[in-house]
Amino acid sequence: MDARSTAPVPPPGCPAHADGGRIPLYGPEFQADPDAYYAYMRHFGPTAPVELAPGVEATLVTDYQAALQLLQDSGNFRKDARRWRHLNDGLISPDNPVVPVLAYRPNAMFSDGAEHLRLRQAITDSMARVDTRKLSRTTEQVSDYLISRFGGRGSADLLGDYARQLPLFVFNEVFGCPADIGDRVLFGITGMFDGVNAERAVEVLFGAVGELVALKRAKPGDDVTSWLLQHPAKLTDEEMVHQVALLLGAGTDPLGNLIGNTLHRLLTDDRYADGGGLIDEAIDDTLWDNPPMPNYAPHYPATDVEFAGTKLGAGDLVLVSFAAANTGPKLSAAREAGSNRSHLAWSAGPHACPSKEPARQITVTAIENLLNQLPDVDLAVPEESLVWRPGPFNRGLTTLPARFTPVEPARRSAPQAQPDPSASAEQGRKRGGMWSQFLNWLAK
Ligand code: HEM
Repeated sequence: MDARSTAPVPPPGCPAHADGGRIPLYGPEFQADPDAYYAYMRHFGPTAPVELAPGVEATLVTDYQAALQLLQDSGNFRKDARRWRHLNDGLISPDNPVVPVLAYRPNAMFSDGAEHLRLRQAITDSMARVDTRKLSRTTEQVSDYLISRFGGRGSADLLGDYARQLPLFVFNEVFGCPADIGDRVLFGITGMFDGVNAERAVEVLFGAVGELVALKRAKPGDDVTSWLLQHPAKLTDEEMVHQVALLLGAGTDPLGNLIGNTLHRLLTDDRYADGGGLIDEAIDDTLWDNPPMPNYAPHYPATDVEFAGTKLGAGDLVLVSFAAANTGPKLSAAREAGSNRSHLAWSAGPHACPSKEPARQITVTAIENLLNQLPDVDLAVPEESLVWRPGPFNRGLTTLPARFTPVEPARRSAPQAQPDPSASAEQGRKRGGMWSQFLNWLAK
């Protein structure tokens, strides 16, 4: 369908013109009402011309069937970002804010074919060894700890004080980080996503992950880092650092946003007022309507190709809007009648998220424990005043202010074994970083 023939009206504040201007996926207008933008984009057909940041042009697939077709066609569409023509031609400055997210790194996400299979197998096999009961216990302990820090106050920012912190602590445990390394991993990841001095944060993160890999090579433990090292794929130290950094980077921010977006739904929509049994439903609805990664899966055509009625050049940047595909009008009826899990929030095809089960399990446990401990938790500000973080790739609130009846800190059964306590825990405790403080709290 040609959009121009139906003269769609751009959403309020959208500087795109109905005569074919690119639709900007940045700025406060897009974040304030992304659904209005997706509705507008559908007038262009299965794909729409977008701008990810000023001067960064891309094609966005908004239709569910077309999205599946692209995600499953690894012959025509490649993940290796060294094919990105506009970056190679110097049309995009290396310091453009979207470049760190899209530029090539030697990890599974940016690999194709046999290389991808090898790296991905190592990741899926190692993640599959995570014990689900232990994961729930760790999540509960971290949840107890975080709640103990704000429970007595009767108010908290459920994003900054809880949803965004919890995955970082759980990951430190799952990857076997001793105190001093864990502190720097937390510092690095938090800094990367806050965008404050991101370069320094990346340096700290990669330094800490490098030390973790060396430590686990010398002294393996019961953790994902050690299982990746032991995998028959025989990853080199450099490959190890990049895969661990990918898992930490790809996992923590969307996981925090899945917890945050689901809590937002539970606190703002009366349909879930009964609490308890509706957590699963609220998570599914969030994955359909407000997914943590609304627009991603960057791909590059291997050759010039016609796709869903649009001509694409080799090396053009094409992305998938999971959010638009999930909410398309054609799909609504199928969604009502069919599987409640056929959304694209985890992507699809060979690069689909390999960790959706543990991610979901952590989310359920984190929310259940919070609601059990703070049964009357409620939004502390009008819903309209909530602000979403900028940027096309991630969907999450800046803050989620809540109030509740103050509670005494809960203490669960004896703490489980600390991750590798022999490895300079003392040194880390003296420094008093976030992870050290958690380990101290566990040990009390
Ligand atoms: C335990 C937490 C998580 C971990 C360890 C994790 C890890 C990963 C990894 C390693 C990949 C790359 C796979 C590949 O290229 O073969 C990936 C892809 C992806 N993940 Fe996750 N993830 C986690 C949580 C989440 C969450 C909460 C979401 C959102 C619902 C999510 C959505 C996605 C999507 C959409 C992709 C595809 C990206 C693309 O095609 O470019 N992930 N994840």
